[in-house]
Amino acid sequence: MENKNYHIEQMLSEEMVDAKIKEIGERISKDYEGKTVHLVCVLKGGSFFMCELAKRITVPVSIDFMSVSSYGSSTKSSGVVKIVKDLDEPLTDKNVIVVEDIVDSGRTLSYLMDMLKDRGPASLKLCTMLDKPSRRVIDVNVDYTGFQIPDEFVVGYGLDYDQLYRNLPYIGVVKFDE
Ligand code: IMP
Ligand code: MG
Repeated sequence: MENKNYHIEQMLSEEMVDAKIKEIGERISKDYEGKTVHLVCVLKGGSFFMCELAKRITVPVSIDFMSVSSYGSSTKSSGVVKIVKDLDEPLTDKNVIVVEDIVDSGRTLSYLMDMLKDRGPASLKLCTMLDKPSRRVIDVNVDYTGFQIPDEFVVGYGLDYDQLYRNLPYIGVVKFDE
């Protein structure tokens, strides 16, 4: 079974990721001074990032979770998103920040942001830990970005390869052996 023909190389250290999350938390705390922030986590990938980020925000925070899957093959998202688990709470009049692990083609997020906008939030922003701008197919407006990374398949801090490695405390690149 353990016949892996790949290995994982570190791209961003735990210290780098933690420092960046602290920085984003401080920015959000400043931007939303005097307000309350409602964080919407896109499962499963966004969960590690959202928890760490929430701890770094100093204004009052509420959280909710949703799970989506895109129709189509696993490697190429179609842009039509199926809601697997919807939010528990309405977004009406809330200052919503969607928290994602990574923006790749932008298909999932562009669909999701349009859908959430229709639910009447007071404001709606997008925060992503990682961004692969070179892969973008659909334009998405990202308000808070941790790191822009090159077109490589990454794991860790919520991101998986075949459902594994979400638990890595750093961001690694999956390198396929020749
Ligand atoms: P998009 O619709 O192409 O932007 O899809 C983004 C989703 O694809 C992310 O939320 C991830 O679940 C997944 N994804 C994209 N790139 C990677 C990667 O490098 N590693 C792990 N998952 C990825
Ligand atoms: Mg995701």
